[in-house]
Formats: sequence, structure tokens, C-alpha cells
Amino acid sequence: MKLESTYPYYLANRPEQPNADLNVVDKYTGEVATRIAQADAAAIDRGIAAAVDAAEPMACLAPYERQAVLEHCVRRFRERQDELACSLCVEAGKPIRDSRGEVARLIDTFALAAAEAVRIGGEVLNLEISSRARGYAGMTKRVPIGPCSFISPFNFPLNLAAHKIAPAIAAGCPFVLKPASRTPIGAILIGEILAETDLPRGAFSILPCHRDGADLFTTDQRLKLLSFTGSPAVGWDLKARAGKKKVILELGGNAACVIDEDADLADAVSRLIVGAFYQSGQSCISVQRILVHEHVYDELRDRLVAATKALKMGDPKLEETFIGPMIAESEAKRLDEWIQAAIKAGAKLLCGSKRDGAMLQATLLENVPRRQPLCANEAFGPVAMLDRFSDFDAALDEVNDSRYGLQAGVFTRDIYKIQRAWDRLEVGGVIIGDVPSWRVDNMPYGGVKDSGLGREGVRYAIDDMTEPRLLVIRTPQH
Ligand code: SIN
Repeated sequence: MKLESTYPYYLANRPEQPNADLNVVDKYTGEVATRIAQADAAAIDRGIAAAVDAAEPMACLAPYERQAVLEHCVRRFRERQDELACSLCVEAGKPIRDSRGEVARLIDTFALAAAEAVRIGGEVLNLEISSRARGYAGMTKRVPIGPCSFISPFNFPLNLAAHKIAPAIAAGCPFVLKPASRTPIGAILIGEILAETDLPRGAFSILPCHRDGADLFTTDQRLKLLSFTGSPAVGWDLKARAGKKKVILELGGNAACVIDEDADLADAVSRLIVGAFYQSGQSCISVQRILVHEHVYDELRDRLVAATKALKMGDPKLEETFIGPMIAESEAKRLDEWIQAAIKAGAKLLCGSKRDGAMLQATLLENVPRRQPLCANEAFGPVAMLDRFSDFDAALDEVNDSRYGLQAGVFTRDIYKIQRAWDRLEVGGVIIGDVPSWRVDNMPYGGVKDSGLGREGVRYAIDDMTEPRLLVIRTPQH
């Protein structure tokens, strides 16, 4: 599939093409693949003003009308799935099989939101807790929070934008969205499809722009909620500048996976390969630290190294490619430097580490000193490191020895250890029998510590995008 030569941005539901200033590069060839309209501060201001005007008409849309919009999107995504997958492959360098997987998840996310749109309810409260409250009854309903600001990342250009857009429509909130400047096409294609619906004017604006000109997404006080997915450094800085708005942060991690001595090693290896290296490890829950029981360490390491060496690296458009380019050469260089620094500090390289531009081989190391950036920071690339443990609880301590806490994976069949892992791991989600990288789009997803604030996963995002409004009814007592 060939991309259009230019794409507009969407301002107050309509395409506008005042310029084509944003070059989107094919991440494999390095050539400019298309050019996108780039919003300036004045356009962003107009988008926010339109969202403010749309707040009431959006809130007044009946749930079945919001559902119909989301169902339209599901239909159109299905019809255009090949084109959507190809755009991911070009703009993100995502291998075509992973790209198709992301399109399937985009469809799931919108389908979930369509179902949730007609389920947003409230509570009946028994207020008669003392004689003072005799004759009082309460009820809550959920009302939309108002205009929302969304900033989405480069690693899932469709589905992580969808995790903000679809719940907003279900909840009845207008929004302005800034997609990642390196990968804006996915969000623009969602905009193209949303523009086919009869959402109230101003319900959505999708405005690629430079980070420098994007301050209003964070600071504008007309916006009631900021939902950001991206790096911890940027996320926490945005929160400090967001004023009174509610802030949801989906940030990074250095996810760990514990392999206990009773694990099925063949199964664990096949899952670790996916968890550590799919889309070149550019996922916030990519497996970075692998802790293996000493009784099975050598066998697991040898199997994992053999499977890693067999991964095909190359053009993401080819079916057989497993490892494509990283998002930019600068990112691959940064990770390359961390790998070299870890080796210098005493780590042993097991395989990989060769770099050619943005292409970095799937890399495994062992004995990486804990305070090395490669271990302590978020690698966000195709690299994982192994370490051995003898005591399960000490392994849990080691997982927790991180400033991050998004998800952790544990391979064990021991129910008591499962319970301990669930109790003790300081993360948003514990995945048993699989890697931390596992996610399906209706589960609560988010982290603790530096990994973020709040949860996504359609229903949980709808909770954040709505507020309870209480009704109290007094029945006079005679
Ligand atoms: C992320 O990288 O934060 C999202 C991972 C996913 O949705 O699978």
C-alpha cells in the first residue's frame, strides 16, 4: 500500500491542510514517506475552544448514539485493516505481523467502548446511617468530566490513541489529541473515520505538532483531564505543569519476569522471546529483567540464546521479519551505549548487540550490575538480561528493586508462590504463567511508582473521564 503524499490534521472534526510541514519517515528506509499538516498554537487553541463548545452537545448524546459512532469506527477499521497495518509498518517500522496484531487490538478497543457506552451506570445509596439521616435516599449517576487532552506515544500509534479516544466518546467527552510527531498517521486515519460520523462539531481535534508548540495540551485550564502515555521524565513534568486538571499517566518500566524451578522451560522461552523482542522491545511492558531459579538457569539461558539468535531481522514489510528498526537511529545508539557500558562494568554478552543505523540485534546479557542504566532505566529496545536466584522471595525483592512498577510476569505452578507474588510485587499487574508484556484491552492497565498514575483499559478510562453526580431525596417523616 502506498501512503497519500500528504495528510491533513483534524480540527473540530474537519480536515484542514494549512501546510504539510511534518515529515513522516519510513523507519526502515529512512526516506520521507508522507507529509502531514502540523498544528501551531493558534490551531490548538481553536481545537480546545471547539472542544469546550462541544462539551454540552457531547454530554447530551444518548448512550446508543455514542455506541453507534464507535460501532461505525469498528466497521470501518475492519474494512481498512490492511491499510492501517501498512501505515504502522511504515511510520513505526513495526513488523507487519505485529502491525496486524495492533490493528486487531484497535478493533477490540473500540468494540469494548461501544459495549461500555450503554453500560455507564450509577449507584443506589442507602444514606440512613443514623437517626439524623432518616428518610434520606441517594443515587449517583456518572457525568462526563468535560474537554480532555490526550498525548499518545509512538510505539502503538493506533491502539494507544484508541485507549484515549474510544473511552472519551463512550463517556461523552470532547477531546484534543496530540499524536507522537514521529508516528502521527495512525491517529490521523482514526480522525478520517471519525469525521464520517455525526459527532457534534468540536467533539474531536487530532493535531500533530512539535513538542515545543504543544504546551496548551498540558497547561490550558479549559481542559479538565490530561491523559499522557510516554516516557516517565516527560510524564511527571507534564503533571507538575497541568494545574487543576485530573492527570492520568501511563509511563515506562523495566519489567521483570521470574522463572521458577517448576516452570515449563520450552513454554517460558517461547513467551520470553515475544515479551522481550516483539516490535524491537519498544513496549512499556517489554521483558527487560529475567530472573531464573539457579536449578534451571543454565538450561533456560542456553535455550533462550538459541531462540534469540534464530530471530530474523530486516525489512518490517516482510512476513518473516521479527526484528525491525527501532524508532530512530538516536534511540538505537543510546541503547547501544548502555549495552557497551554494562559490558565494561562486568556484564557478559550472550548474543546480539550489533547495530546498523536504527537496526539493533536482539541482545541478551547476564550479570548486568543493577545500577547500570541498562538494568535500572527503561531500555525500550530489543535487549533483556538474565540473573539467577535461589530463593523465590528474594527474587520478588529484586523485582521490586526498581523505581518502576508496571507489570511483572511469574512462571510458577505453586499456588502459594502465586499468592505471595500477587501480594508482594509492587506493580499494577501480576501475570502468572506468562510475560509481563501480556495485555488484553479490557484489563486495568497502569503502574505504580514512577510508572504512572491511574489505569487505562476502556472501563477504567471511562471512570476517569466521568464523575459521580449525587442526587439526594428526602422523604419527610411524619
Ligand atoms: C505500552 O507500551 O504502554 C502499551 C503496551 C500494550 O498496550 O501492549
